[in-house]
Amino acid sequence: MADNIGNKAAHDYHLDVPAAQEGFYVKGNAHCGWGMKNRLARMFRPESGNTVMLAFDHGYIMGPTAGLERIDLVIPPLVPDVDVLMGTRGVIRSCISPAVSAAKCVRVTYDSTVLYDDMSNGGGIACDINSAIEMNADCMAVQTFLGASGESRSLELLARTADAGSRYGIPTLGVVAVGKEMERTEKFFLLATRVLAENGANIVKSYYCEGFERVAAACPVPIVIAGGKKLPELEALEMAYRAIQEGAHGVDMGRNIFQSDSPTGMAQAIGKVVHEGYTPAQAYEVYQEIKHQK
Ligand code: R5P
Repeated sequence: MADNIGNKAAHDYHLDVPAAQEGFYVKGNAHCGWGMKNRLARMFRPESGNTVMLAFDHGYIMGPTAGLERIDLVIPPLVPDVDVLMGTRGVIRSCISPAVSAAKCVRVTYDSTVLYDDMSNGGGIACDINSAIEMNADCMAVQTFLGASGESRSLELLARTADAGSRYGIPTLGVVAVGKEMERTEKFFLLATRVLAENGANIVKSYYCEGFERVAAACPVPIVIAGGKKLPELEALEMAYRAIQEGAHGVDMGRNIFQSDSPTGMAQAIGKVVHEGYTPAQAYEVYQEIKHQK
């Protein structure tokens, strides 16, 4: 029986205070549902509005990649320094502890491997929505190939993933692929990032380019930049800094972290740029300091 005798009467209705109508800080996602926003908030820190995603999904098309020969040894030590882990379900399941606190972005489509010249041909679903839910995914990543033979197929996979994601509150990350034949220009990235957002991506992963501020401005959802091939550490920090200053909301970086001579140093230095506005020189000092602690 309910114990309803002698309870304090409710009276603090704050009639003079309007109901909290919080906006939502992740660009373009203010009208999504609570679950979707909750997952986005696990990825993008409220203090900075930005994210550091650690990408280690390269093996899904490339097999063992330099620095990722033993994911079980390389990635776990970096987890405390990043916000999101991006990988395939196979590798997350086998190499990452389920007790991990970082958010997980699961790559949910497969593509042709590097054994084929045209990797856009032959993509499909590698992890369906039920499996993504079972993995407790915070985000689902779909590779798209604009300007390649698999363009339509990859856009269909993106849209279907975004449909399923919006049903269950899981954001979709649209990944802009760049291939041998694809130009890495402002014109291409303007088109690609916008097309992905219009087809349902909640977040877009693309590349830094000249004119990036126009690319970021024209994309209605956050852009995170890929690192690309390994650069000297200072150059990678400069690229991340310019991208953030020009409107990126984070990085989704792999080789420039795990192929560094100090992966922890780079992960922390990138975090300083992304979340605290450190200049490349300041962040490089952080990298150096941690490197020499070894
Ligand atoms: C590329 O297909 C992979 O998905 C990587 O996640 C992506 O390229 C980011 O890694 P990196 O910074 O090494 O380019």
